[in-house]
Amino acid sequence: MIAPHYGFMIMKTTLHTASPSQLETECLVAVVLDAAENADKSDKPNPQIQSDDKAVLSAAADLIASGEVTGKMLETTLLHKPQGLKAKRLLLIGGGKAGKFSSAELRKLAGAAVRNLKSKELRSFVFIAPAVTDAAKAIVEGAIVGNFDPDYYKSDRKPQQIEDLTIIVRGDQKALAAEIEQGRIIGEAQNFTRDLVNEPANRMTPTILADRAKKMCDETGLKCEIYGGDKIRELKMGAFWSVAQGSDEEPRLIVMRYEPAGAPEKPVLGLVGKGITFDSGGLSIKTAEGMEKMKYDMAGGATMIGAMRAIAQLKPKVRVTAVVCATENMPSGKALRPGDVQIAMSGKSIEVLNTDAEGRLVLADGLYYARELGCTHLIDAATLTGAVGVALGLINAGVFSNDDEFYNRFAAALKKSGEKMWRLPIDDEYREMLKSDIADIKNVGGRYGGAITAAMFLKEFVGDTPWIHLDIAGIAWNDENKAWLARGPSGLAVRSIVEFAQEFR
Ligand code: BES
Ligand code: ZN
Ligand code: ZN
Repeated sequence: MIAPHYGFMIMKTTLHTASPSQLETECLVAVVLDAAENADKSDKPNPQIQSDDKAVLSAAADLIASGEVTGKMLETTLLHKPQGLKAKRLLLIGGGKAGKFSSAELRKLAGAAVRNLKSKELRSFVFIAPAVTDAAKAIVEGAIVGNFDPDYYKSDRKPQQIEDLTIIVRGDQKALAAEIEQGRIIGEAQNFTRDLVNEPANRMTPTILADRAKKMCDETGLKCEIYGGDKIRELKMGAFWSVAQGSDEEPRLIVMRYEPAGAPEKPVLGLVGKGITFDSGGLSIKTAEGMEKMKYDMAGGATMIGAMRAIAQLKPKVRVTAVVCATENMPSGKALRPGDVQIAMSGKSIEVLNTDAEGRLVLADGLYYARELGCTHLIDAATLTGAVGVALGLINAGVFSNDDEFYNRFAAALKKSGEKMWRLPIDDEYREMLKSDIADIKNVGGRYGGAITAAMFLKEFVGDTPWIHLDIAGIAWNDENKAWLARGPSGLAVRSIVEFAQEFR
């Protein structure tokens, strides 16, 4: 069976300014917000449909009057043959409190509408954009991301997807068309990443990951260099190689460059990704339970490949270089041993006390190499620690930075993307925990603050370069379906990095 990859799933989006009631469609979707002022429990909801089309309001009037529709976040109510509308159905979807409603909620509603309607075998619908900033972009992003399902390998897979989305929105149509194009590019990049992450390790080896990156670069006009074990050793990437040495699969060092004509020489944004296509733990082997999930340990690398895809299409006037360190982490007669000392590309000696802390080893060399390639600013993404999930749950990614100003710029991108990330500290005091008796540093920090000591380890290799580290271990994979997102690879962090790159100067 050949897996139908993401490229097959394209959703067409159209803008419209007509009255919603006049559009013939399988389904018209309207957002309902609760405009009740006080959030105390005694307060009755005050549901308001986000449209000024009288026919839409009157078609839903009975439902609203009945109290069945409250506007609660993600509440859905489907009405067939709505009176006075040309649409066959009217879907009301709750967006929560009006005062708190933003593009972040709207993105989810669009995804939820897609998932709701495609499960009913619908192929097209019309969404009435509510009045929030960047509404059209958020709807397109959310809808495209909601359209993705990862069940490729099921023989009875139903090719369910929304093919056509129409958005009713007023305003400068040219600006709006540019907005939905941005949303499309960013949403598709997120799905591209999810498609890579979804593949099991036998179908996503370092070689395959590199081939997919190369193909993407060829299609989008990015420069791409792919290196194997010889080059990794020649570059003296002793930390990266130490992880790769135990596997029968060849490692790959993937370098992608976006160098638009007319962009200044500096700054250069460096994107570095952890691309462990399978993390068995190595000789410090993981327990059997849950080991299968370690096929997603290349999510950081896939994040950067997806982000580069969007950057190539959005064409910001700034240079971006991505480095992905791809290898398996396997036990074997050639494998890295606990206690081994390795010399990283930077020259620092590392005492490896746990071979399962391999992500920081490959990133140590990836980050250092990105600086050698001229990157003036760095962002890395990695499924680095289980500890980040202990600290932040499976909701927020962990963010770490050695530069407040750089972090603040990233925080602005987070606002745009709506992705949840929380900054954790990397004070000098934590460095103590990585002191080795025999080398410059050891690769594990002990029982406490595991996500922080992992970040502290990376910090050793970035020098003074402004740097952001995203630990996405807790959020890169969802075990459960959400109303707006299929279970499996989430593709989270792609949007924030792309938003950041677009504003980066
Ligand atoms: N890939 C794992 C981290 C991980 C855990 C990702 C759960 C996704 C979900 C990483 O390589 C790892 O094994 N980290 C160890 C570090 C420890 C040995 C210091 C961990 O978190 O247990
Ligand atoms: Zn590991
Ligand atoms: Zn790992």
